[in-house]
Amino acid sequence: MSVEEIGGARVPGATHRTAFDEETRARLSADAAQIKARYPQERSALLPLLHLVQSEDGYVSPRGIAFCAAELGLTTAEVSAVATFYTQYKRHPNGDYTVGVCTNTLCAVMGGDAIWEELSDHLGVGHDETTADGSITLERVECNAACDYAPVVMVNWEFFDNQTPDSAREVVDALRQGAPVAPTRGAEHVCTFKEMSRVLAGFSDGRADEGVGAGPATLRGVELARQEGWTAPPFTDEERTREAEETRTPARGVPRSTTPRAAATTPAAATPAPGEEQSSAQRTPTGGRDVSAAQQERKQSSDDAKES
Ligand code: FES
Repeated sequence: MSVEEIGGARVPGATHRTAFDEETRARLSADAAQIKARYPQERSALLPLLHLVQSEDGYVSPRGIAFCAAELGLTTAEVSAVATFYTQYKRHPNGDYTVGVCTNTLCAVMGGDAIWEELSDHLGVGHDETTADGSITLERVECNAACDYAPVVMVNWEFFDNQTPDSAREVVDALRQGAPVAPTRGAEHVCTFKEMSRVLAGFSDGRADEGVGAGPATLRGVELARQEGWTAPPFTDEERTREAEETRTPARGVPRSTTPRAAATTPAAATPAPGEEQSSAQRTPTGGRDVSAAQQERKQSSDDAKES
C-alpha cells in the first residue's frame, strides 16, 4: 500500500491525487488498448480497466478514475458510479492481501463468526480496514459458493477451506511475515492484491490451472450419481421443439446461433453416459503449470472469440 508522510501525518494514497507520469500512462494505455480490442463497444471494457488501475495503485484511485474516463470517453462520474457498485473495486488504498471471512449463514454457524472475531481482535482492524503496515485488509464476505468447505476464508480470492480461528490466524501471520502461503485449492501460492488485479484485468499469469479445482466434497454428488448410474432426464419432444423454434427466432438483441442448439442437445449428444467426465472441474489434478504455451494461446484465442 502506498503511504506517504505529509506534514507528519501518514496519508494513504497521497501520491494518487495527481495524474500518472508519462511513462506509466503510456504503459497503461498500451494495456488498455489490448483490453478495449476485446469488445465491440469500448465502454464495455470499463470493468477490466478498473482492475487494471487497481493493479497499478492498489485501489481505484482518483487518477485511475480519470484514466478510465479518458480511455473510454466517459465522464468521471460515470466511471465512479460503476466503481462504487462492486465491492471488488476498492475506493481507498487496499492492503497487499484482502482477507475475506465468510460470515454468511452456513459459514457463520460452522465457525465463521468466531474466525471473524479472532482475526479482527488479532489484527486490530474491522470490516474494510487495513492494518497499519499495509499488509492486510480484512473484510466480511458473502457466500463464495464454497459452503461444502465451510467455514471458508478467502485471501485475494483464493480458497482457504475448513478454517478455524487458530488456522486463520496462522495464515494472516504468515502473510504479514512475507512467507509463501498456499491456499487449500487452486494456485500454488497466494499472489498480491495488485498481481491478482492484473489477472482480473485479463492478463494471464499462467497459473489459472494450477492445483485442484474441485475437491472431494464438491464432487461427492457426481460420484454418487456414477455409482448409482443416475443421469439427468433427457429433453422431451416438446422441449426440443421449443428449443428449435427459439433458435429460428432469436430474442431481440441476441445474435442468431450458427450452430442450432437443438442439434447439440439431443439426448444422445447432451447426456453423458454414467461415469463419463462431465465438467472441467473433474480433470486430473496437477501440481504445477499443466498447460503448454501453445495450449494457453489456443485457450486465450478461444476466450477472445467468445467475448467478441
Ligand atoms: S456460506 Fe460461506 S461459502 Fe457459502
